[in-house]
Amino acid sequence: MKTLFDQTEYGGLKLKNRFMRSATFDGRADEHGHLTKELFEVYENLAKGGVGTIITGLAYVTNLEQPYPGQLGIYDDSFIEEYSKFTAMCHKYDANIIVQLACLGSQTYLKEGGGKTMWGASAVEDLGYKGTPRALTVEEIHHVQQAFADAALRAKRAGFDGVQLHAAHGYLLSKFLTPYYNRRTDHYGGGIENRAKMLLETYQAVREKVGPAYPVLVKINSEDYMADGMTFRECKYVCKKIAALGGVSMLEISGGSLSSRPNEGYARQITQEQESYFKAQAAEIAKENDVPVILVGGNRNFAALTDILNNTHIAYVAFCRPLICESQLINRWQAGDLRPAKCISCGKCFHPNGTSCIFNRPKTDAL
Ligand SMILES: Cc1cc2nc3c(=O)[nH]c(=O)nc-3n(C[C@H](O)[C@H](O)[C@H](O)COP(=O)(O)O)c2cc1C
Repeated sequence: MKTLFDQTEYGGLKLKNRFMRSATFDGRADEHGHLTKELFEVYENLAKGGVGTIITGLAYVTNLEQPYPGQLGIYDDSFIEEYSKFTAMCHKYDANIIVQLACLGSQTYLKEGGGKTMWGASAVEDLGYKGTPRALTVEEIHHVQQAFADAALRAKRAGFDGVQLHAAHGYLLSKFLTPYYNRRTDHYGGGIENRAKMLLETYQAVREKVGPAYPVLVKINSEDYMADGMTFRECKYVCKKIAALGGVSMLEISGGSLSSRPNEGYARQITQEQESYFKAQAAEIAKENDVPVILVGGNRNFAALTDILNNTHIAYVAFCRPLICESQLINRWQAGDLRPAKCISCGKCFHPNGTSCIFNRPKTDAL
């Protein structure tokens, strides 16, 4: 029988258990995306809390886009030294640390000016954020792909255990997969074989830079849950294509965006019956591909997750909101207190002073 505390090894990663902190925007970087004391504290608490592998919040790979306030950056070599200290700190607690690489595309609050640009697969207004991006030229597409590759090499040099490409939730790589947003008539638009090219080529550019053995993970929507969105069938095609390229370390299966669920996006407000809400899709992808699959979204219950582990090919389980609420959740479970995560999935974790849980927030931080 498999257990959530199994030690495993795959694709260059050694994992002390099957628990992961899924990428979580922390909102605590400085105005240039650099690390702060508060960020060190957040990640030290997580690493101490028993989770085997931590994925950072989405980090911007190019300074040409307007980041979110407090978003992490990794767009030039000035980050390598501070990230080296950061990864060493996580390793001290025997936790893996992976950085999530992203371009925001039209999911940004950029309005006008500031010398920053808003990129899209096509110039289609973002249904969630309301900005209209500029369609990337083919030359710019290659520039973006190289920016991902350069960022991945920086991550490797800084001691990260791997990188994750953020191709979910309506960010730029995800937008290329979505017919509603990708109306291109060149070889990056049209059928899913073309819409997938941006992600596949980005993966290949990253792989070339970091070499064959370095862990590269991909987070992708199982489907977009919107009119003219990417379907689950198309997602399965893309996953097969990524797996066929060889060397992808893990696939994390999510779904939706602010375009599909304006008030909650991919972090759904759920009842107990709706826990692990991408289970069916993740299980199907895990069955079809010889690549470990991470289940994310509404994971709250130890017994139910043990069941999933033993009745599907899903290999890892990731948590976002439960670890914002209880950074020590995994230690608690390991100590035998198997009550479900305390998180009530309210989705109120975003806060101008930094991502936090309503249960732990100082009263002065109430909105
Ligand atoms: C505050 C917050 C920040 C998030 N930041 C990211 C992110 O940076 N990258 C990402 O891929 N997903 C991000 N997510 C989505 C989570 O990783 C996860 O897919 C989603 O919340 C569902 O998991 P959960 O039920 O365990 O919260 C974020 C979610 C929340 C609530």
